[in-house]
Amino acid sequence: MRGSPHDSWAHIYDLAYKRTFGPLYQGLTDTTLSLVEERLPPGSRIIDFGAGTGRLSLPLSERGFAVTSLEPSADMMDQLAAKEGKLQPRPKHPIRTIRAKMQDYPGTGEHDLALCVFTVLLYLLDEKSLNLAMAAAYNALKPGGQLLIDIPSERLFGGYTHKDEMLERTVRVNHERDQVFTYEEEIRVAGSDDNWAEYRDRFSIRCWDEMSVWAALRSAGFVAKEELTTTFAGSGSRYYLLEADPAAEL
Ligand SMILES: C[S@@+](CC[C@H](N)C(=O)[O-])C[C@H]1O[C@@H](n2cnc3c(N)ncnc32)[C@H](O)[C@@H]1O
Repeated sequence: MRGSPHDSWAHIYDLAYKRTFGPLYQGLTDTTLSLVEERLPPGSRIIDFGAGTGRLSLPLSERGFAVTSLEPSADMMDQLAAKEGKLQPRPKHPIRTIRAKMQDYPGTGEHDLALCVFTVLLYLLDEKSLNLAMAAAYNALKPGGQLLIDIPSERLFGGYTHKDEMLERTVRVNHERDQVFTYEEEIRVAGSDDNWAEYRDRFSIRCWDEMSVWAALRSAGFVAKEELTTTFAGSGSRYYLLEADPAAEL
């Protein structure tokens, strides 16, 4: 699966996101961690779909949760594993990593909470993948387990630029077909002696309408529990907490 989105710049992903989103980024992370800690006892099992470089997986593991991190990009996962290797003290439960796309994950029904946040939905390009991904989230959970998911809004499809003394970043999003867009990333990072390293990435993303996502969630067996969009204000996404309805298994 080499050649996944993010592979070419995984080692500067954290830097790029921190610089681009500023304090909002850490704020969203802190909000997610507090929410999880308020609702789940330590030791609970959490699966982080599209875990990236471990923005949530790592601090959740440090807080005593038993984390499964699923991520299709080998390079993003390498970053997560390298950071986990440096955690001190060692977390009680080592992170279990699975290199896969969410829609290909069979699910083993042992998790208390599934996370599918920070635009992971965008990478699912067709209805079949969306339905399989939501079924994977359901199958990963114990009966009554919960899913925290964000549905990115259209305003995230505008592209943006960022420039500071260390990092220059241009994101372009161009319409490809129907609800599918081409996402193009150009990043320059300052090195020594005024040399700048350049990174590029290009992949397709999809702008999902809420109705399609809700249809997939319901048909997978989820019931709505709470809307948390205001809790995650500034993210550009709508956030929801859902419950895996045990009756849907029958
Ligand atoms: C913007 S990052 C968000 C990372 C992380 N969820 C967070 O909250 O920081 C999106 C991640 O989703 C991953 N991804 C892409 N396609 C995916 C798929 N089909 N299933 C699961 N993850 C996917 C990407 O490789 C990337 O690491």
